[in-house]
Amino acid sequence: MANKKSQDLMDKLVSLCKRRGFIFQSSEIYGGINSCWDYGPLGVELKNNIKQCWWKSMTQFRDDIEGLDASILMHPQVWVTSGHVASFADPMVDCKNCKMRFRAEEVQGTKCPNCGGELTEARQFNLMFKTHMGPVEDDASMVYLRPETAQGIYVNFLNVLSPSRQKPPFGIAQIGKAFRNEISPGNFIFRSREFEQMEMQFFINPKEDDKWIEYWKEERMKWYHSLGIKKENLRFHQHDKKELAFYAKMAFDIEYNFPFGWKEIEGIHNRTDYDLSRHTQATGKDLSYYDDLTRERFIPYIIETSAGVDRSLLVCLVDAYHEEVVKDEERTVLKLDPKIAPIKAGVYPLVKRENMPEIAKKIEDLLRPHFKVFYDEGGAIGRRYRRQDEVGTPFGITVDSQTLQDQTVTLRERDSMEQVRVKIDELVGVLKKKIWGN
Ligand code: GAP
Repeated sequence: MANKKSQDLMDKLVSLCKRRGFIFQSSEIYGGINSCWDYGPLGVELKNNIKQCWWKSMTQFRDDIEGLDASILMHPQVWVTSGHVASFADPMVDCKNCKMRFRAEEVQGTKCPNCGGELTEARQFNLMFKTHMGPVEDDASMVYLRPETAQGIYVNFLNVLSPSRQKPPFGIAQIGKAFRNEISPGNFIFRSREFEQMEMQFFINPKEDDKWIEYWKEERMKWYHSLGIKKENLRFHQHDKKELAFYAKMAFDIEYNFPFGWKEIEGIHNRTDYDLSRHTQATGKDLSYYDDLTRERFIPYIIETSAGVDRSLLVCLVDAYHEEVVKDEERTVLKLDPKIAPIKAGVYPLVKRENMPEIAKKIEDLLRPHFKVFYDEGGAIGRRYRRQDEVGTPFGITVDSQTLQDQTVTLRERDSMEQVRVKIDELVGVLKKKIWGN
């Protein structure tokens, strides 16, 4: 249960996101639409940086995973085969009085949590959004908005296998939108109806499943550490028999300690050969693999790592949010890892005279091809620093009177607030090393 302090923290974060251009409610000027969110100028930078870290860790820094970008709309039979049409549903109850709808598992007792009214019996509610393809809106033209990106990978297994010349163990990675008609969305961007997933499906010899699930558990946890997330705020949760999806042999969630409690941010599942077998049965296409070396034919098992982009972003924001008192002055600071910070450096002339703005503008031009930077010449320098601290900008570069003498600037670090002098010529190299370590 969220206490007042946790609620305050979420309120402050939501307000900061709106005020500083990270995240807005969708269609706000029309009164908004529930559980859909728009990412503003800083939000989209942060989101892209997180996605890029994931994409590189999967497809660039290793040679056994290939990328894919499958379409959102798929043949509707895919969702019958996958089991989503029959069973991608939550039991829900309706209040007969106020008409509000709740997930059955959220309601304690038999009364409506909103008005105390009488509740209906629990009914299954399918979470997939439907739409129609083509000019005629009948059952035959019905298609679904995908509720997960994974199926786009399974149906492309053969398409990727042969041109990439991969063989199990190998993976296919994809980032893309998914849609679920969640009964009770909420907690800001934690549970929404339109969201993004970063999913990787690793195809293996069934004999090696224990080894690979252990491997991917560790790798995925390390990825969150590499984004600077505090280790004590992350943990694994193993699914017990009741929680386990019917096709899964073993599943672990990575959970984060949000202000509203420990919650899942990623699932790591041993999906066995369920998916490829089902698609083989439905299409008649043989999705088994013949290993020339061992002379074995098998339907690969799949170890899936399925992370939410929006949840990862919320984790980064919550983990980074700090309020501090420094020299009797309060500051709000997002201690984002420099790799994912939307803006890498603020560039400031100390004063608006003595050629300082011109030099600072030249520095902005020097840095812009390498980093997203922000030039600011308005107001006291302390205030300019604070404004960038609040959005997580890790470095501040200030042109002052000494710059005019020796072509050095001050480089201020956001977290320690320490300042060192750096030669203008060396700025690009120094910043690259601090941000990316090279
Ligand atoms: N392919 C497996 C799969 O989709 P999932 O546990 O249903 O598994 C994986 O979803 C991840 O997708 C979750 O851990 C979460 O990060 C994200 N996710 C799922 N539903 C979401 C929602 N309604 N809003 C935001 N993120 C969601």
